[in-house]
Amino acid sequence: MRIHLFPAGATEPVTLAGKPGQSLMQAAVDANVHGIEAECGGLLTCATCHVYVREPFASQLPPPGSDELGMLEFTASARQANSRLSCQIALVPALDGLAVDLPPTQT
Ligand code: FES
Repeated sequence: MRIHLFPAGATEPVTLAGKPGQSLMQAAVDANVHGIEAECGGLLTCATCHVYVREPFASQLPPPGSDELGMLEFTASARQANSRLSCQIALVPALDGLAVDLPPTQT
């Protein structure tokens, strides 16, 4: 499945292949995408995997859990309505074509 990550200010995305069952963070780390540091490895303690999810995908995701909501208070770039932590986004076939923007502090 295809995933498109737009670095801050970029018009062209970095497109990578993700596998169902992976997190978006893991797919980005495996592809060495700059901007997804994921310092905690997905343990919900760093917020360095922050992304802004584009529609229509943002509305399709399960809502963030309380732990994710808590960590979203500590993002380096401003939190927005479509802010999510990519380690908590489980890739499923319905998310083929998923498009997210990377925050300006994650370059
Ligand atoms: Fe640390 Fe997502 S990788 S919170």
